[in-house]
Amino acid sequence: MDNKARLLMVGALGSGQQRLIESMTDKGWAVSTADTLAQAETRLVEGEHEAGIFCLPDSGIRDLKRVERLVVRSDMEWMALLHEPELDDPLLCRTLGDLFMAYQPEPVDIDQIDCLMQHAVAMKRLRSEEASTVAPQGSEFEMVGTVPAMHKVFDTIRRVASVDAPVFISGESGTGKELAARAIHERSQRASAPFIAVNCGALPSSLIQSELFGHEKGAFTGASQRKIGQIEAAAGGTLFLDEIGDLPLELQVNLLRFLEEKTIQRIGALDEIAVDVRVLSATHVDLEKAVAEGRFREDLYHRLNVLQVNIPPLRERQEDIEILARFFFNKFIEEKSMKVRGFSLEALALMRQYHWPGNIRELINRVRRAMVMCEQRLIKPADLGLERRTSNRLAITLEEARNSAEKEALIGALNRNKHKVKKAADELGVSRVTLYRLMEKHQLGRKGDQRVSLSSN
Ligand SMILES: Nc1ncnc2c1ncn2[C@@H]1O[C@H](COP(=O)(O)OP(=O)(O)O)[C@@H](O)[C@H]1O
Ligand SMILES: [Mg+2]
Repeated sequence: MDNKARLLMVGALGSGQQRLIESMTDKGWAVSTADTLAQAETRLVEGEHEAGIFCLPDSGIRDLKRVERLVVRSDMEWMALLHEPELDDPLLCRTLGDLFMAYQPEPVDIDQIDCLMQHAVAMKRLRSEEASTVAPQGSEFEMVGTVPAMHKVFDTIRRVASVDAPVFISGESGTGKELAARAIHERSQRASAPFIAVNCGALPSSLIQSELFGHEKGAFTGASQRKIGQIEAAAGGTLFLDEIGDLPLELQVNLLRFLEEKTIQRIGALDEIAVDVRVLSATHVDLEKAVAEGRFREDLYHRLNVLQVNIPPLRERQEDIEILARFFFNKFIEEKSMKVRGFSLEALALMRQYHWPGNIRELINRVRRAMVMCEQRLIKPADLGLERRTSNRLAITLEEARNSAEKEALIGALNRNKHKVKKAADELGVSRVTLYRLMEKHQLGRKGDQRVSLSSN
């Protein structure tokens, strides 16, 4: 190891503890220790560690949940040192299997621990290299993309940001049109002034005029106060008109006038007010078609459409899907269930094949859902809720047939033995460890988990 790797050792292992600390220090580790879980939590906040050793006390662990939280939040690999008899506790075994990369019963073998922990550090360093290429600086409006089509979008955003003309952003729903609009604003000279987004499709036409232009007190029944419209509120900054294709024809006239004269009139006002606002607009509908069909004014279309940004749908950005999925995984890391560490290869493959009608917005929702639903270290296809139906497929592979027979046998034995893992393992003629591994493989939960039923799958 190039620089001293930092090892955190939690818990007390009697007299062996001191010897372990000394030996690991001799082997070049920077060891810090914590006697309690609370101390361990503090150590992790105080400084970066790269691997951990957890010494389970003789008395067992009282607060498994807290151990789980510590291990998962630490974002590094751990091994457990314990006393052989503790392996009789099925709950503990499962937790160990889920949380730790390895365990060692007493008496400890220092060379082996050193070797395992070196692997752990290597794994952590691998992961952090990946993370740093995926998400450089975490701005709230960071736009992620690596494929050529997205490089072109980023180029265009930079170029249109440096001028002050209207920009028309096209793309399917959820592709990032609003995010692109914000990116343009943030890179423009107007960055320190407001960015205001108005969804023209979300308001009835009777309200949208006053929403955009504002009104004077008493301008109409119910106008008990003067209201400043969104155009005026964006003064000096950028107004983003989303779903511009939904703007009613009569309002299109007013908007066109504003774009030409750079003045507005609040409803019920006599005078015109000069307002300096840059207008960006977007829609997911085909605006040219709307023009051809007389639903959208051609003169307004040309006014808005001076510069264009077109954002491709997610399915055309195959190589970005995994990068985006990991980006959102890290972004929502606080919401995830304790164990989950990342995506399984099958889940990534499924995400690449899926056609993403809801684009990035849908990807975000699927990833967040999976992070909450997943009960294992890696997100499986089923956690994403994207799985295409396989029930009407006639041919199954031998492997699928074996798997389903194996799962049925497992469910049967568990049910017959009232979920006593030891007894079910005996009946099946396998060791407890094997049974736990198979339960994990087939996502069979512990007792009380309703997924243990023959109708599942
Ligand atoms: N390239 C991207 N990188 C990261 N997040 C993105 C990207 N594109 C879109 N998003 C996110 O996806 C969601 C949908 O984007 P949005 O701009 O609202 O789409 P649209 O306006 O086209 O419907 C938002 O949460 C946005 O932050
Ligand atoms: Mg939008």
